[in-house]
Amino acid sequence: MLYLDGPLVLAGAGNMGYALLSGWLERGLDPSRIVVQDPAPAPHIKVKLDEQGVKVQATVAPLNEAPAVILVAVKPQVMDQVFPALAKLSQPKTVVLSVAAGCQIGSFEAHLPKGSAVVRAMPNTPASIGRGITAAIGNANVTDKQRAACDALLRAVGEVTWVNDESLMDAVTAVSGSGPAYVFYLAECLAQAGVKAGLPADLAEKLAVWTVAGAGELMHRSDLEPEILRRNVTSPNGTTYAALQVLMAENGLCDLMERAVKAAADRSRELAK
Ligand SMILES: NC(=O)c1ccc[n+]([C@@H]2O[C@H](COP(=O)([O-])OP(=O)(O)OC[C@H]3O[C@@H](n4cnc5c(N)ncnc54)[C@H](OP(=O)(O)O)[C@@H]3O)[C@@H](O)[C@H]2O)c1
Repeated sequence: MLYLDGPLVLAGAGNMGYALLSGWLERGLDPSRIVVQDPAPAPHIKVKLDEQGVKVQATVAPLNEAPAVILVAVKPQVMDQVFPALAKLSQPKTVVLSVAAGCQIGSFEAHLPKGSAVVRAMPNTPASIGRGITAAIGNANVTDKQRAACDALLRAVGEVTWVNDESLMDAVTAVSGSGPAYVFYLAECLAQAGVKAGLPADLAEKLAVWTVAGAGELMHRSDLEPEILRRNVTSPNGTTYAALQVLMAENGLCDLMERAVKAAADRSRELAK
């Protein structure tokens, strides 16, 4: 059961904010202790928030009690609108937990009262089914209790790893933050290739989706490294071997992935505030 020593404010109930929130509600966080601040949540999210009894406010209104955690889950582009609201809401006991890509701890420190505790985290959307992975880093003001609260929140929706060098967060964003989209695209490409190989489109899609999901689950449950799992299903000169000769050739999937991850990390640096 998740418990916080004060209300939780969620600034931005979009894809990521709601993915985290729904995971926390499922794991017992009291909805009456949550306030969502979002000028216009998407209708399907607003319906769910209403059903779950979570208070939604369009603008920042002072709370009766100091928030334990303010989760910042708005797009980096609107951070400048959000900083004044954060400064108003944040109290000495509050930890600001930001998942905004590229928003550096120093930007929060520049806008929040001196001594404010800030944790920068990069989760991913499988958090909505409890299977996210988050990398996080806190500033020097984060107390052990605040770090434990953030760790518990993030761990409630998947695995958590703490880093101690903020410059790693751009590459983290590029690998795990954006990574689920690469895997969905892999399923799309596999299905398209199946059609080109002669399968009806619906069958190709079904085979591709179940293969990607099943291989992911197998990797998750197995103690073996991905490389060993791959070798285990590759007979010398067999069908898988033939395909891997293409994927693993020079300028193959590894080079492509390297370029994709670099593009995402570069963009994260460009968005840095
Ligand atoms: N999606 C991911 O996989 C992922 C992974 C890791 C981290 N993140 C980070 O999570 C953050 C949110 O991304 P997202 O994909 O969830 O975006 P999103 O779906 O657009 O959600 C952002 C939400 O914030 C709302 N908003 C806009 N201005 C606001 C304001 N001034 N105060 C409060 N709320 C406001 C938006 O409303 P409108 O739609 O009306 O503008 C929207 O509901 C980003 O910083 C992103 O870098 C996302």
